[in-house]
Amino acid sequence: MGQESTTKQTVTERHPIGVFDSGVGGLTVVRALRRALPGEDIVYLGDTARVPYGSKSPRTVEKYSLGCQRFLLDHHVKLVLIACNTASANALPALISASPVPVIGAVDPGAASALAATTNGHIGVIGTLGTVRSNAYARAIGARDANAKLTALACPMLVPLAEEGWIDDEVAALVARRYLTQLFAQDPAIDTLLLGCTHYPLLRDVLARIAAEIARRPVAVVDSASAMAEAARDALGSGPNRRNAAGQLQCFATDTSRLDELAPRFLGEPLTGFDLVDL
Ligand code: DGL
Repeated sequence: MGQESTTKQTVTERHPIGVFDSGVGGLTVVRALRRALPGEDIVYLGDTARVPYGSKSPRTVEKYSLGCQRFLLDHHVKLVLIACNTASANALPALISASPVPVIGAVDPGAASALAATTNGHIGVIGTLGTVRSNAYARAIGARDANAKLTALACPMLVPLAEEGWIDDEVAALVARRYLTQLFAQDPAIDTLLLGCTHYPLLRDVLARIAAEIARRPVAVVDSASAMAEAARDALGSGPNRRNAAGQLQCFATDTSRLDELAPRFLGEPLTGFDLVDL
């Protein structure tokens, strides 16, 4: 997927795919990955002790992200997926140059999904402060279509709502309305809303409903997860794991409190548990 994946060494079929996020949001990407490549083993790391990345400086996000990737590389992964928009937006070049295996970020696949969905070229992207401040989506969309118009808004309250499981009640609707009113005030012609944070797919229904109410017409809502899974399939080329048995998912976290409750919501399937790691 464009500059976000580079093949730097031959990968062996039996090795796992590595995925990391600042927390549990990246499990929405694992969900898409398990659907697209069911035979693959996956090692997931959530840096739950240091979440959120979205409010931290680019330098700190880069440092934390490099530590997460190092952990995955130590587990001999054949591919790294950065299932965190904030890390992708702020640390991708550093992660690519530090990795002997291909690295796939969230931004370029998300930009491609939004451009495929829009009919009038007016795209709204919502994400963390760190993602929006980086301008990474503006660059990714501009590189693909110079005529597209991107409007970006940081929505920091959406991550705690998704984690709390308040995903389609009156509180979620109020918060969504407040943010999306601001977004559509900047560009009333937005026809595609890009969820530029891996937590937000949990809030897809309420965001789609409120966006349509504000715009008074349907608004396409897209995210990076499926496009990242497709990019993973492309990056594996002729080397995907073709065994019939379901691939194993091994999860690690830097803090395991509340994960038994939170993680299955994001993954969409039961989970055997997380191993605690100290990076
Ligand atoms: N998962 C992160 C992202 O996609 C959001 C949470 C955070 O701020 O760390 O940007």
